[in-house]
Amino acid sequence: MSQLIKLSDNERAKKKALIEHLAIIMDGNGRWAKNRRLPRAIGHRKGLEAVRRVVTGSARMGVKYLTLFAFSTENWRRPAEEVSFLMDLFLIALGKEVRELHSNNIRLRIIGDRSVFGKVLIRAINDAEILTKDNSGLNLTIAANYGGRWDLVRAVNLMCADKALSGRGNYSEDDLNRFLSVSFAPDPDLFIRTGGEQRISNFLLWQMAYTEFFFTEELWPDFNENSLKQAIASFRKRKRRFGGVSSGVESEAVL
Ligand code: FPP
Repeated sequence: MSQLIKLSDNERAKKKALIEHLAIIMDGNGRWAKNRRLPRAIGHRKGLEAVRRVVTGSARMGVKYLTLFAFSTENWRRPAEEVSFLMDLFLIALGKEVRELHSNNIRLRIIGDRSVFGKVLIRAINDAEILTKDNSGLNLTIAANYGGRWDLVRAVNLMCADKALSGRGNYSEDDLNRFLSVSFAPDPDLFIRTGGEQRISNFLLWQMAYTEFFFTEELWPDFNENSLKQAIASFRKRKRRFGGVSSGVESEAVL
């Protein structure tokens, strides 16, 4: 009996050491470019190369869900020229990368209010999601025109309008969770923000209640597989208690 309990403790510890869902704010493209007296646009282009590295690295390290914050509901405050460049880059990236993602069994989803995007971009997003919908490898989610508060308000409105739930009385956390745009994924285990700022900037507000945070000064275009390994190594040293007490069982997982 005690052996059984020990085994399940070990299994639980191993599971806790795994990163099922990794969420990232990719910050520092502008400063990377400025440091080199280059236009900010070049920083974003280099940022896209870092996205490729992190997608590959995450898939290799067994991450099941990778959620990247590409454009927030607040990013419209940037100069029109930069917003337009970012939209174009997004469209170009979809055109260039989707086939490769698909051939690597990666499922791509875009979360956020896409209704304000141009028709061509909306179609490219829909096509990419349809093409990759049966893939069973890494779940890559790009948050574009996304905000945690936007998502919560949208979910509340959908929940209240749901006929099957109406008149049932108190709504539960699970009820609300079903209507959030990342309801398909478990809550993030690890959140990484590059670029030195230490805040979550309206990212996955509901989902990051018990997420471990890792902040690094490294600028996003410099972020590579080694940086990812460092973040994951830091995560594996943490004792996650989820409001409870530590079991004291050490993790046996290795990189
Ligand atoms: C933050 O850096 C970065 C963004 C707002 C855009 C993120 C875009 C990419 C990483 C490239 C494209 C990605 C996809 C998925 C198409 P910043 O401009 O705020 O940098 P700063 O803080 O140094 O000014």
